[in-house]
Amino acid sequence: MKFADLTARLRVPVVAAPMLLVSGTDLVIAAGRAGILGAFPALNARSTSELKDWLERVDGALEGRPYAVNLIIQGPGAPRLEDDLALIEAFKPPVVITSVGNPAQAVKRIHGFGGLVLHDVATLRHAHKAIEAGVDGLILLTTGAGGHTGSANPFAFVSQVRTFWSGPILLAGAISDGSGIAAARALGADLAYMGTRFAASAESLASDAYKALLVSETMADVVLTDRISGLPATFLRGSIVQAGLDPDALPERAELFRPNLPANIKAWRGVWSGGPGVGSITDIPPVAEIVRRLAEDYDAAKARFAAA
Ligand SMILES: Cc1cc2nc3c(=O)[nH]c(=O)nc-3n(C[C@H](O)[C@H](O)[C@H](O)COP(=O)(O)O)c2cc1C
Repeated sequence: MKFADLTARLRVPVVAAPMLLVSGTDLVIAAGRAGILGAFPALNARSTSELKDWLERVDGALEGRPYAVNLIIQGPGAPRLEDDLALIEAFKPPVVITSVGNPAQAVKRIHGFGGLVLHDVATLRHAHKAIEAGVDGLILLTTGAGGHTGSANPFAFVSQVRTFWSGPILLAGAISDGSGIAAARALGADLAYMGTRFAASAESLASDAYKALLVSETMADVVLTDRISGLPATFLRGSIVQAGLDPDALPERAELFRPNLPANIKAWRGVWSGGPGVGSITDIPPVAEIVRRLAEDYDAAKARFAAA
């Protein structure tokens, strides 16, 4: 699929970004039907054979509308990468999002069936490496992105990547409403990449307790630390406390990907992620309603801009 064909099919320029243990088939199907690009991490299916069921369900329900599968190259994704990639080659999803690690090998195989590869980057160096690897689009993770986050300022990052990359850019980092989408587009990004807002949807796999925290917490409650998953990531303070940990005195990580927490405490499963955009969330509507609000607000933001 060509990127221009993808964007032409979207009602609002938005991706419901992949989220570990949160994005499942219902969310991706609802996103595709509402007119945005939905994505789920392959690892959310517990095995490659369950992934096959998921792909069949999503592909069948979306009837040709685009969707994306996320492959985590390094760390937790590594052991399943080969089997999951072989399955993806068989199903040919229109878009594959690669994160954490060098996508070069995956790019060759995904291009082999005509799939579009979008890759997560948090630094200029990673952006250059991803372009060398042949990806079709860059997802710029900036400060405030939920999950494994970035630290770059979005103004600086988008404009500096634009000096050497004229291809597709997706911008991630606390975008929660239509004004944020318009701002991302004004900066030079093609699509807004939104996670936390869709974790707080009816179709997300987040538990009710997780969803309640997404409604009650604000940006003041978001803890940025590498001590829970082993990489810098954002977590909801209330979930750290509920897990019996002190958010202000977490033990230092052992090494990359290896936190130093009691064995029963697992990042994402027992301690929940959300970016500072969480403060804009006041309810848990269905994805279709979130997209309706985004479309309305995006149009209003564009009209304000045009009138200014
Ligand atoms: C709970 C949670 C889990 C995430 N899991 C993944 C993942 O498995 N793979 C991935 O590429 N990104 C993951 N992310 C990052 C999102 O895809 C996206 O970059 C981010 O949510 C965008 O920032 P926002 O939450 O401020 O909108 C996760 C984010 C959250 C909030």
